[in-house]
Amino acid sequence: MSGKWKTYKFKCHILLFNIFWKSARSDMKKIIYPIVMVFLGTTLYAQGEKEVGMDNMWGAQSHNEELSDAPRGKLFSDGNYAMFIHWGLYAQLANEWNDTTYYGIGEWIMHKNLAGIPVDEYKEIAKSFNPVNFDADAIVSLAKNAGMKYIIITSKHHDGFAMFHSKVSKFNIVDATPLGRDPMKELAEACKKQGLGFGFYYSQNQDWTAPGGAGGPDKDANGNVVSFEQYFESKCLPQVTEITTQYGDIVLVWFDTPGRIPKKNVEQLVAEVRKNQPNALVSGRVGHGMGDYQTFGDMEIPFSNIDGMWETVDVTNDSWGYAWYDKNWKSPKLILENLISTVARGGTYMLNIGPKGDGSIPEEAAYTLTTAGEWLKKYPQVVYAADPSPWDHKLSWGDVTRKGNKLFLSVYDWPDNGRLYLPGLQTEILHANLLGEKTVEKLNYSTENGWTILDIPCENSEKFISVIELELKDSFKVDPTLGLDPDHTLELSTHFAEAINCNKEKKKWMEKFGEWKHIMQVDQWQKDGFVSWELDVFEPAYYMVRLKYAGTERTVWKITSDEGKFIQNQQNASHVYHSYDMGWLKIDKAGKHHIQVSLIDGDFEKTSLESLEIYKIH
Ligand code: GLC
Repeated sequence: MSGKWKTYKFKCHILLFNIFWKSARSDMKKIIYPIVMVFLGTTLYAQGEKEVGMDNMWGAQSHNEELSDAPRGKLFSDGNYAMFIHWGLYAQLANEWNDTTYYGIGEWIMHKNLAGIPVDEYKEIAKSFNPVNFDADAIVSLAKNAGMKYIIITSKHHDGFAMFHSKVSKFNIVDATPLGRDPMKELAEACKKQGLGFGFYYSQNQDWTAPGGAGGPDKDANGNVVSFEQYFESKCLPQVTEITTQYGDIVLVWFDTPGRIPKKNVEQLVAEVRKNQPNALVSGRVGHGMGDYQTFGDMEIPFSNIDGMWETVDVTNDSWGYAWYDKNWKSPKLILENLISTVARGGTYMLNIGPKGDGSIPEEAAYTLTTAGEWLKKYPQVVYAADPSPWDHKLSWGDVTRKGNKLFLSVYDWPDNGRLYLPGLQTEILHANLLGEKTVEKLNYSTENGWTILDIPCENSEKFISVIELELKDSFKVDPTLGLDPDHTLELSTHFAEAINCNKEKKKWMEKFGEWKHIMQVDQWQKDGFVSWELDVFEPAYYMVRLKYAGTERTVWKITSDEGKFIQNQQNASHVYHSYDMGWLKIDKAGKHHIQVSLIDGDFEKTSLESLEIYKIH
């Protein structure tokens, strides 16, 4: 598709959306909004003629060898959990401009897809940006209490405003605001004092206020055309020199949205970091696959273990930069689940907070991080320097991390009938202990049908997530087949299925601007198309099967077991993914089974199956 056509298509999307939006009733808007955002999702980061889809915007990812031998690789193996901070002029606006509130990621408020603030007007904001409540020691203490090991803060985001004292651009916090201090110096020092790592985010490609920067004006104040190369030489590279030479040792430079940045510029950036900070990592989003590790799409936790070094970045609420209305805080338990499951897949979790325009931290962010941190203080071994799960994926009740011959079972969903079912463990257990703050309770266990059954107390004394430690006689051996136990719903994403004569692919969309969702799904069904999962069933019984899908019309599905039993049923479809009960499937024998799903009537092209859920009828 040509660039012109894409831009035209994008403008039509926006136009149609606006016409629709103004005329739709508010109850309709609630339903239609997510659908339209799916439609627009891949083009919203358009840059006029230079439109770049989000996959390209985040850049090719690095699949480098494990760096654990190099000192800079230690950051991820020991760390696993870090604080990301998005803080800049946009925090002052808090997603409101000219009495209008914009919904989406706050650090993009200036962009034409949100408030579209002209460069001159945006620059004016600096004059009233006076974050007198910024307290570096308090932020570092918060990160420490949260159990985080290093802090990465935005030194310059896409708006081009430097949050540090830059000699090459006056558009910086020391020269352009009444504050007159360099808060990055304070934060770097506080991290050093309290023993945390410190590093910078830097937007290398997008700079919306610097002439020549991607998304920025193409002429300078005198009307001269400025190239990207000129922007790069006069602002980007010298600022990267500044952040890597003026703040002591840093652990990481987190570049972002490389878009179409030329390879030679990326090489220069990486060389500059290596020269000034040989022990600092370079993020996966530097461009051209030249980072030290993979950075996944925002808010994405992979389904299966991933080798090599990688990280997931996530937000404490919905917006990276502070937005006045954003109260959608993740609970301490959800933060812990995301952290543990990221570590269990082999990655590092970096969680963002967005300080307000006055520099203070939203109270709820401090609460949820500190509360999650209290749990981590009790069970540090579950996360720090822990290895990924031998099962390769989440289990129906939680997740597993490992150190040597010890497995840590983090139970997110504690069963109340005194039994916890663990599928596929083939190594002998020496001890099974339920861990407490100061106590350890020995657990009895038995094996049946290749499953380990742990006798656990019916009442869970741990408020968030209980941890069971299994000490194995030998190095682990595990059959990773997905296990269906009698007490938990097993959610089988199509990620785990074999897809025959249908199309399996990852889908991304935004529900609010910049708030990404990621799933695996199957569509484009041929008449003989099907998906098939292998699972290990603990107990013969009747099981309820539910399908989660999106579509345009009523659908008829067939779900078949390898014992010849099947369900055939018609259900509705909606434009958003929704779960529908399909019926009972009888399973006669314990052990391994294949379950197949096929679409037998409906919209074969567009019906998109996300997952199958199955649970025992009691
Ligand atoms: C996206 C956004 C950016 C944000 C980043 C965090 O790339 O463009 O605003 O800083 O995600 O991962």
